[in-house]
Amino acid sequence: MANKVDSVNNYDKIAGVYDLFSRLIFFKTQVKAQTDQLTFIPANSNILIVGGGTGWILEEIAKIHSKSLSITYIEISAKMIRLARKRNVKHNNVKFINCAIEAFNGIEHYDVIHTAFLFDNFEEKRLESVFEKLNTLLKPGGLWLFTDFSYQPKTDQKWKGILLKLMYAFFKRIAKVEATRLIDTSTYFTNNFYENIKESDYYQNFIKAIVYRKMDPKKRPFK
Ligand SMILES: C[S@@+](CC[C@H](N)C(=O)[O-])C[C@H]1O[C@@H](n2cnc3c(N)ncnc32)[C@H](O)[C@@H]1O
Repeated sequence: MANKVDSVNNYDKIAGVYDLFSRLIFFKTQVKAQTDQLTFIPANSNILIVGGGTGWILEEIAKIHSKSLSITYIEISAKMIRLARKRNVKHNNVKFINCAIEAFNGIEHYDVIHTAFLFDNFEEKRLESVFEKLNTLLKPGGLWLFTDFSYQPKTDQKWKGILLKLMYAFFKRIAKVEATRLIDTSTYFTNNFYENIKESDYYQNFIKAIVYRKMDPKKRPFK
C-alpha cells in the first residue's frame, strides 16, 4: 500500500497522457530544453535520473551514447516506470527503481544527475532535503543537468504567474502536488559551489535549462 511519501507528487494518474499534455501546452520546448543538454554527458558515465516520467529521455540519451552508460532511473510513479521500461535504451544499462528519491538508499556516486520539472513539485523542506541528497550523490566535478520553470513574480510577465497557478491547482488534484509556488533553486546551487556552465531559456524564458558543474572541494574559493 502506498504510504504518504509515495502518494505526494506522484504522477500515476496522469502517466498515460502526461507527454501529450506537456506537448499541448509547451509544444516541444520541455523536450528541447532537456535534449539540448545531453551532449554534455561524457561517454561511459554513471547517470542518475530522478523523476524522469515516461522515459522518453532515455531514448534521447541513447541517440547520443548508444552504449556503455550506466543509468539509475528513479520514479515515484509505478505507471511512469512501466512506460519507461518499454523504451529503447540501445546498449546502455538501465536500472529502474520505483520509489521516491527521499526513500532511495543507494550508496553509489554519479558523474551526472538529471532532474527536469522535478523540483517545482516540492515545498521548501522537501526541496532542501532532496537537493542535499542529490548533492551528496554527485561526484566532485560531476554535472547536474537541471531543467525547470523560472518565474520572478516582481518582474516577469503576468501570464507566467497565472499559468503556474493553474498548473499547481490542476496537479494538486491529479497528483497531490504539494507545492503552491515556485521556489528559486539557483541559490542552492551557488551556496553549494556549483558552476553554471551553460544556461538556456525556452518558452519566453518561462523554462530554464542549466548545466551545473559541482566544483571539486580542492578548487573551491574560500568562503
Ligand atoms: C512534471 S513530471 C516531469 C517528467 C519528466 N522529467 C519530463 O520532463 O517529461 C515529474 C515527475 O517526477 C516524479 N516525481 C515526483 N516526485 C518524485 C520523487 N520524490 N521521487 C521520484 N520521482 C518523483 C513524478 O511522478 C513525475 O513523473
